[in-house]
Amino acid sequence: MLLRPPQTERLRLREFRPADLADVLRLDSDPRVMRYIGDGRVGTRRAIADALDRVARHYRNYPGLGVWPAEERSTGRFIGWFCLKYIPKTVEVEVGYRLLPEAWGRGFATEGAKALVAYGLGEIGLYRIVGITHPDNAASQRVLHKAGLRDAGWGRYYDRDVRVFVAEQVRPELSREPAEN
Ligand SMILES: CC(C)(COP(=O)(O)OP(=O)(O)OC[C@H]1O[C@@H](n2cnc3c(N)ncnc32)[C@H](O)[C@@H]1OP(=O)(O)O)[C@@H](O)C(=O)NCCC(=O)NCCS
Repeated sequence: MLLRPPQTERLRLREFRPADLADVLRLDSDPRVMRYIGDGRVGTRRAIADALDRVARHYRNYPGLGVWPAEERSTGRFIGWFCLKYIPKTVEVEVGYRLLPEAWGRGFATEGAKALVAYGLGEIGLYRIVGITHPDNAASQRVLHKAGLRDAGWGRYYDRDVRVFVAEQVRPELSREPAEN
């Protein structure tokens, strides 16, 4: 089954293409964008090109999951990307987003994150989705909260101490006591 990323009222999500490299380079070269990501350093052209290759393989290896560029429907312009993907070396699936500063403050991150959480817990059938943020990234924490994730305190992912947010599927039948034989 071919699973497509969710669509929203104002955002079109699609698979990455090699021609998107220039847009991603613009995104990852901006210190305002990278401030709370990894060690805060901007990405090199080589590292970004390698990441796009990995992303393209990810679509095939993990159907339904991925990193998807987002275009604003009204203009067709690239505003950044959203993801629903495994955190390396864990069984956790993370919802994430990285937007160009000119797109901040318009509710786009919340709109995309909400759609991905609904799609992940619904269509994909994930049991749990996490959101991982730098402890000082208040805007991202606010987005996760508005997307319905609860604050789960501190955790360690990507070899860093981070704030963790969690959304879980509500399955009342799973909380019942096992039947006695
Ligand atoms: C984090 C990011 C995705 C937010 O995008 P956005 O489209 O502006 O988010 P939204 O407009 O949906 O919501 C942002 C919320 O954070 C709030 N906010 C913004 N800056 C804030 C700050 N410094 N402190 C507290 N809250 C803040 C906004 O007021 C808004 O909440 P509100 O609707 O209740 O007023 C965007 O800033 C970004 O791409 N940053 C760089 C990459 C990044 O850090 N990604 C997340 C990695 S975990």
